[in-house]
Amino acid sequence: MLGARAQGGWRALRRCASLPRAVRLRVREALGAREAADAVRVQGWVRSVRSQKEVLFLHINDGSSLEHLQVVANPSLENRDLTFGSAVEVQGKLVKSPHRKQNMELQAETICVVGPCDIWSFPLKMKERHPLEYVRQFPHLRCRNNTLGSLLRIRSEATAAIHSFFQDNGYVHIHTPIITSNDCEGAGELFQIEASSEVRESAEKTHFFNVPAFLTVSGQLHLEVMAGAFTHVFTFGPTFRAENSQSRRHLAEFYMVEAELSFTESLQDIMQVMEDLFKTVTSTVLSRCPHDVELFHKYVAPAQKTKDRLEQILKNKFVTISYSEAVEILKQASQTFTFKPEWGCDLQTEHEKYLVKHCGEIPVFVINYPYDLKPFYMRDNEDGPQHTVAAVDLLVPGIGELCGGSLREERLPFLESRLQRLGLTDAYQWYLDLRKFGSVPHGGFGMGFERYLQYILGVDNIKDVIPFPRFSHSCLL
Ligand code: 4AD
Ligand code: MG
Repeated sequence: MLGARAQGGWRALRRCASLPRAVRLRVREALGAREAADAVRVQGWVRSVRSQKEVLFLHINDGSSLEHLQVVANPSLENRDLTFGSAVEVQGKLVKSPHRKQNMELQAETICVVGPCDIWSFPLKMKERHPLEYVRQFPHLRCRNNTLGSLLRIRSEATAAIHSFFQDNGYVHIHTPIITSNDCEGAGELFQIEASSEVRESAEKTHFFNVPAFLTVSGQLHLEVMAGAFTHVFTFGPTFRAENSQSRRHLAEFYMVEAELSFTESLQDIMQVMEDLFKTVTSTVLSRCPHDVELFHKYVAPAQKTKDRLEQILKNKFVTISYSEAVEILKQASQTFTFKPEWGCDLQTEHEKYLVKHCGEIPVFVINYPYDLKPFYMRDNEDGPQHTVAAVDLLVPGIGELCGGSLREERLPFLESRLQRLGLTDAYQWYLDLRKFGSVPHGGFGMGFERYLQYILGVDNIKDVIPFPRFSHSCLL
């Protein structure tokens, strides 16, 4: 049953629809128009209302830009439903604005309130710069806030730029499965899936797919299959990890960009793609959404000088050090770490942050990690006594690990003996097949998309760069 106010809204929409047709413009188009136009129609949500004796000012926004369109109207057009947050359709003349700060404004002839908004219970308030922590409580409404609006436009542009980067460089896009039976990383951070009816029934029942099935932790192994036919492939989709998502850089569900390259013998080739991807996508985002990015650099992370640092980073080459060098740097550090740095132990976030600082707060590749620390698929460097694999992590300031990659073990005997030691031979027969039928040296990497956004925008909490902060608050959409 619709409430009386909502029904009023539908009546208003019908009334709007029956007006003579005017050219419908998005706010962004209206703001960028070169010429005045007599009959235009703009729809959006009211971001401010200012009523003066002689004139009524509205700002409306439809999500197409950070900037709002100013509407100038006769005070007689005001009505009690025309409030902050209400949805409106305005018709009138688009004219050059007398104000220096904006190009065009809309002189309203009619204003229809399509959907009223109860400002007393609406959690967003007019002209307030709500902190990210505050709007996080309203996952269903926070996209109407300027900061989240900018973030989501940037996220959309970055997504398109990632696809363009790979398509322009001859990669084939592959939809890798979300439901899979493999644990690519071997770290056991898996969400197992079952039909809900089976979870309720006896534990002895067989699995829905007859084998245990999980939400994917990485599309890499499926990409390796495809790299055996298409040479260069990529995927960009959701990945899931059952690890502590209370940290500021971990999520249970996140997006990962992954690429796989056949006929690649050197880790440097993989690192070059990582660096090119980062630089190309970042330049595109900076040039396509300058105002949205500026909002973050100016108001969300002003102290970090993210803009200046990014511009420097785009001009210079990333630094490379080996894992062994990294451990030496950490051992000589005057800082005391919670986890004592030792060859053979994983680098902790505190170590990664120190290394980045030591190298001048720029992105740093760390290569050749201990054999025993890394998953079964990484290529044996056959060195010693400190035995390593051809792995690479890209570390960035403020975040730590942004990308992880490696050369893959393409030699059948090496892979067979490693899988056998891990007791995984049966499960990975299909993967071994790839080494029997036309195996080639190859490698690839994965980049965490949310960590990428956190880094380029200077956002402290990873939950503020996703559309819906799922599983973090009581409101689970
Ligand atoms: O280093 P990871 O675990 O690498 C892989 O999964 C490889 N199989 C990728 C490949 O070579 N195709 O994850 C890659 C990146 C990390 O560097 C990190 O940026 C991000 O994914 N990541 C997370 N981001 C948010 N929340 C989490 N829980 C994450 N776990 C990993
Ligand atoms: Mg990793």
